[in-house]
Amino acid sequence: MKNTIKLNLENIDATYYSGEELLPVLNNVSLYVKSGEFVSVLGPSGSGKSTILKIAAGLLKPDRGRVLIDNRHVNGKPQMVGYMPQQDLLFPWKTLKQNAALPLLARKWTKNKAFARVEELLPAFGLEGFANYYPHQLSGGMRQRAALLRTMLIESDLMLLDEPFGALDALTREILQDWLLEIWERFKRSVLFVTHSIDEAIYLSDRVYVITERPGKIAIEQKIELKRPRSKTVLTTSLFSSYKQLLIDALNIKFPDSTGFDHQQKP
Ligand SMILES: Nc1ncnc2c1ncn2[C@@H]1O[C@H](COP(=O)(O)OP(=O)(O)OP(=O)(O)O)[C@@H](O)[C@H]1O
Ligand SMILES: [Mg+2]
Repeated sequence: MKNTIKLNLENIDATYYSGEELLPVLNNVSLYVKSGEFVSVLGPSGSGKSTILKIAAGLLKPDRGRVLIDNRHVNGKPQMVGYMPQQDLLFPWKTLKQNAALPLLARKWTKNKAFARVEELLPAFGLEGFANYYPHQLSGGMRQRAALLRTMLIESDLMLLDEPFGALDALTREILQDWLLEIWERFKRSVLFVTHSIDEAIYLSDRVYVITERPGKIAIEQKIELKRPRSKTVLTTSLFSSYKQLLIDALNIKFPDSTGFDHQQKP
């Protein structure tokens, strides 16, 4: 099972058209995710990361190339995959429980059964006791976990997560990274994860693809051989630092002056 290919994107080109304007976004992008694998796409803003996920979810048809899920051609055909878009899309007028149950209700589960299943999973997602809260009554981290719970309830082995922790403060983000790894190990999903954060990509992934500025091309594919289960102590190891240096080089990040004045590492 572990060595079968879950998602395969082959030689993808994509262009957006707005009026007369053509905006080439992806250039010959090939990537894959094996069953049970955690793969990240790391790259600068506007490089086409979200576009890759939309193509993988079948929401957007590429100009060229093939999209295969479980070896089936799915170019431009919306798929039942666990796609979590960049903004958490909880409906504000629905409670946490009603939001999370949507994929089950879409599969014609009865309300009772769907809500019971959600209630059962709330503790694992750190949301016990909040079933009847509305999104605005939850913290940012809780909303992200609720959106992830809903994504997890989509009946698919493949999860496409678009910067799920992007809007969170650093501490909450670190806690949720550990939590996501636990959930991933427990539910054995295949994950394609988009992020801006080099540390996050290394910490979570089995492999990382670095994508260049628009039109996005794959700069490198890097295997991450840190043993699992991982904990934050790995961040200070020399192996972690060497991966980090490799990814910084691939992203071509400049450190403007040697006085250390501008040491931003943001891609
Ligand atoms: N629907 C659209 N119509 C036209 N242009 C679009 C559309 N969606 C995205 N773009 C453009 O395509 C490029 C890539 O967008 P995309 O959202 O894939 O980037 P991204 O790597 O996810 O960026 P970020 O890290 O900021 O989320 C950007 O220049 C964006 O302006
Ligand atoms: Mg994006």
